[in-house]
Amino acid sequence: MGLRKSPKNMNQKIFIKTFGCQMNEYDSNRILDLVKKIGYEKTEIYENADCYLINTCHIRDKSKEKVYHEIGRVKKKFRLKKKPLVIIAGCVAQAENQEMLEREPYIDFVIGPQSYHKINNAILNYEKQKKKIQEIEFDADSKFDYLSKIKNSSSKVSSFLTIQEGCDKFCHFCVVPYTRGPEYSRPFNQILDEAKHLADSGSKEIILLGQNVNAYNNDGYRLSDLILGIEKLNEIKRIRYTTSHPKDMTEDLIEIYKSSKKLMPLVHLPVQSGSNKILKLMNRKHTVEEYLKIYDILKKFNPKIEFSSDFIISYPGEDDQDFKFTCHLIDKIRFINSYSFIFSPRPGTPAENLNLIEKKISIKRLEKIQNLLFENQIQMNKSLEKNVINVLVENLTDDKTKTFGRSEYMTPVIFNGNKSDIGKVVQVRINKSNRTTLFGEIVSNSNQKVA
Ligand code: SAM
Ligand code: SF4
Ligand code: F3S
Repeated sequence: MGLRKSPKNMNQKIFIKTFGCQMNEYDSNRILDLVKKIGYEKTEIYENADCYLINTCHIRDKSKEKVYHEIGRVKKKFRLKKKPLVIIAGCVAQAENQEMLEREPYIDFVIGPQSYHKINNAILNYEKQKKKIQEIEFDADSKFDYLSKIKNSSSKVSSFLTIQEGCDKFCHFCVVPYTRGPEYSRPFNQILDEAKHLADSGSKEIILLGQNVNAYNNDGYRLSDLILGIEKLNEIKRIRYTTSHPKDMTEDLIEIYKSSKKLMPLVHLPVQSGSNKILKLMNRKHTVEEYLKIYDILKKFNPKIEFSSDFIISYPGEDDQDFKFTCHLIDKIRFINSYSFIFSPRPGTPAENLNLIEKKISIKRLEKIQNLLFENQIQMNKSLEKNVINVLVENLTDDKTKTFGRSEYMTPVIFNGNKSDIGKVVQVRINKSNRTTLFGEIVSNSNQKVA
């Protein structure tokens, strides 16, 4: 699989539409790095595209429908123009491959998340033979081996870095083990090299990614070793990781919160339900008590640590009492930023054909959970008003009149900084807040105490 340049593709434009999780965002950026080698360049204007790639997500039912909807939009836009090359990548491509090609003839080929390193050859072959193809092998080893030879071109202040892929947990509701394949951890030094390259290109924050990021294990190196390794890079000011599983919150990872200067105090740890009965039905492999133990230990180490989570509402079998347990857990932990969705049956998973809870009840439960979660978020942000906090400055706002950054808890902060502050950690006094955003002004006297 060479990196031959195809003069034919010079100045061809590719538009990438990304759905799903941060790993898909990382993948889309890497796909761009790859196709540049055969002459494609990125366009933000999709009508200009010679190649239209949709990087898909399969996690809930609506996500799949969004893809077909998107193809419908493209078809309409290009009705009177030359049809672009249409590629479907990501988790729907992996799960539905042949079915997609049959349902939607407008698609030229599908390529799964573990095969996208083969995209250049697939494009060049398609141009020659015009034969519809699917690339859906699970080949994480050769994917990352190949990708490591191509520089990650992210020059953002905050960059994603995938360290782990796939999942061996098989929660009964989830498609990820089928779409991303078995757990795979990238070689330790390969990751450190990519982190160093990102730091040299201007990144100040690295967000380590994996479907089960804390299951990372390569030749005995764990996530805690990676955090320590990346922490040594002077340019890097902040380190985060997502998404983790409670069962993989090992002692070494918990301990690292005592010593790390750069690991941020927000732990995103999906719990899904506050009822042990439901966790068992879900095949989650952890109990509420085990989850609370992790919370208690981390809070003891550092009371500033806060938790965020994912919740599945109305999993089959969830009764009023189970639902109350989830509300109690939210009251106890006061998660500051969380995702909650009604259970969506996924094809091929053990929960696919279970009896669903009535829609009316599910919507009511979701509303209740979201109100509780939103209230925590509002209170957390309110508690920061009149305080001075550390903000990593990422950019100017769209209208260029203000600066945009993030707090240590990932909350967006808008304030009156300068372009020259981008990439710096500055102190901002918070004057106002709403549920999602903090507003403030930069503090020039940096002797102020930081909240
Ligand atoms: N590995 C992570 C964990 O163990 O929690 C989660 C990764 S998954 C990509 C992200 C979230 O999607 C899950 O935490 C879960 O809340 C949600 N999710 C997965 N399958 C779902 C389904 N069938 N219906 C609703 N939500 C789902
Ligand atoms: Fe899905 Fe996470 Fe469960 Fe794996 S651990 S099956 S990714 S929810
Ligand atoms: Fe979606 Fe696949 Fe991510 S199903 S959430 S894009 S791992």
